[in-house]
Amino acid sequence: MSDLLADYRDETLGCTRCPLAASRTQVVFGSGDPRAELMFVGEAPGFHEDQNGIPFVGQAGKLLERLLDGIGLTRTDVYIANVIKCRPPGNRDPHPEEIEACESHLFRQIELIRPTLVATLGNFATKLLSGKPAGITRVHGVEQQVVLGGNAVTLYPLFHPAAALYTPSMQKVLEQDFARIPELLGRESRSSESQGTLTTPASAQALEPAHAPAVQLGLF
Ligand code: URA
Repeated sequence: MSDLLADYRDETLGCTRCPLAASRTQVVFGSGDPRAELMFVGEAPGFHEDQNGIPFVGQAGKLLERLLDGIGLTRTDVYIANVIKCRPPGNRDPHPEEIEACESHLFRQIELIRPTLVATLGNFATKLLSGKPAGITRVHGVEQQVVLGGNAVTLYPLFHPAAALYTPSMQKVLEQDFARIPELLGRESRSSESQGTLTTPASAQALEPAHAPAVQLGLF
């Protein structure tokens, strides 16, 4: 981790800016390459993230890793963070005042990492970083030019993997939107591999809808 990012991480680990500090196990700051060109921003830590201190380590994270694999990347090639750094109890949606209290942590991360492409996962990250109210169903897959952390950045809204897990049509769209990431990074696309449907390895069978719990929140 770059020194400044590591220092900033250390500072946030004791954060008490909002009441989530009282119920969390730990702050989930973010993980990956501190100099990544590509950064993903999700919503909030869930149960597994709160336990492990690393974002996207549950079912949604496994799908994110498979999607990354489809474009020839691993999670160590990118940086992954969330809008808020502490788990909301019961995985409820973040409250506006929690986002307000926490958002400067994300903006500082973006400022220090200086990604050229920020892929927002779901509504919360998309609305915060675009500064616009348009929801993910309308804006997914359409890149926007924004300034974040003082730098020009391409913002690329995507469906949240947790939502896509249980809706095959949404997962298909997420795969298609994902397949454009190499082009947005200015790289050659591995088109035949990245645009087809992802094959499901035996180890990931639990991600299939037939095995899914009824409530999406169970994923976090
Ligand atoms: N895990 C995370 O870290 N963030 C999400 O938004 C969902 C699951």
